[in-house]
Amino acid sequence: MESPQPPKNSEGPNPRPEVENMHAYSAPLEGRRKLLRLDFNENTIGPSPLVVNALQNIPPEQISIYPEYNGLREALVKNLKAAKPSVNIKPTEIGLFNGVDAAIHAIFQAYGDRGDYLLTTTPTFGYYTPCAHMQGMQILSIPYQEIDFKFPIHQVEKTLLEKKPKLLLICNPNNPTGTRLQAKKILELSQNSPNTLVVVDELYEAFTGDSVLPIVDFAQATNLLVLRSLSKTAGLAGLRIGFAIGNHKVIEKISRVTGPYDVNSLAVTAAFAALRDQAYIDNYVSEVLRARDWIKKQLLKCGKRHHIEGGNYLLIWPANDASKVEASLKSAGVLVRNMKDKPLIEGALRVSIGTTEQMKRFWQLYCDADI
Ligand SMILES: Cc1ncc(COP(=O)(O)O)c(C=O)c1O
Repeated sequence: MESPQPPKNSEGPNPRPEVENMHAYSAPLEGRRKLLRLDFNENTIGPSPLVVNALQNIPPEQISIYPEYNGLREALVKNLKAAKPSVNIKPTEIGLFNGVDAAIHAIFQAYGDRGDYLLTTTPTFGYYTPCAHMQGMQILSIPYQEIDFKFPIHQVEKTLLEKKPKLLLICNPNNPTGTRLQAKKILELSQNSPNTLVVVDELYEAFTGDSVLPIVDFAQATNLLVLRSLSKTAGLAGLRIGFAIGNHKVIEKISRVTGPYDVNSLAVTAAFAALRDQAYIDNYVSEVLRARDWIKKQLLKCGKRHHIEGGNYLLIWPANDASKVEASLKSAGVLVRNMKDKPLIEGALRVSIGTTEQMKRFWQLYCDADI
């Protein structure tokens, strides 16, 4: 009998070629706890006390059994309808995921085949790219336009017609430019491209109110998906829970590529509690909008190049080197995100908007750092 051969490659067997050639999505995630975190657009004050209370009262049994999801989809439907009565969504039209990141991953796994096109815009949320690469897809990314980053609607329409991409990803409002696209325009895009799955990432919708949900009927719209999360406004980023909303057949197909218990039961408990306290989320959003008005006034007064639109974030172009200003803010206890290597916005910092008090602290330190 032949003895086993030592592996030729010291790194072990080769992964798929697509994986060999791709870069993981990397974000500077460690050591952030004690600082003022204006770098990931998270909720900056924490979740509702109902969430904390529910988590503190989790019985040990819940930890030792697999999670149960009954009622969570219904709870989300109830909140969505309460916010906009014209919303007409059924619980079967909702998929539960381990954060919207996991929903995005699953969408690409279910729909993106080698050689297919992903159509998207640039600069946008960074996770779409590695998901496309791991499937061996080709990316068509259309730049936002002009100094105020307008949505490149004509190019998107033209590319949909010419290239017939498998997926169109629209982040609305866009992270990081805040660019908004009218919901009815998105519906139109999907109606005109029935062979493209149009995915609308509505993570920051609470700050604009632009959503396709109040105007869509998923029984008809079989190529449209909406992504929502409890990470940003509800303050559950650490627990990981997000939703994909669409035609029940599309949801079922995406769910085929996820494990049966990918959403953990602490996240489920927290989600129920967060949805029971929608007023807390709404108050937080109102506070962020007030803080946005305040910081906008300061930016206008001081005349620095900035862009503030859409979500709970803004872009600012420091007069000094952006990395130096970022480092100086960090040493003073405030984290912001450097837009280094991002097309169109290289040299800018993205700053999440928290409460007015937090923005006052940021602004004082920023003015000292960028004289
Ligand atoms: C546009 C966008 N989509 C999705 C995500 C991921 O959200 P989640 O925390 O639900 O995975 C983020 C997080 O930064 C985001 O900005």
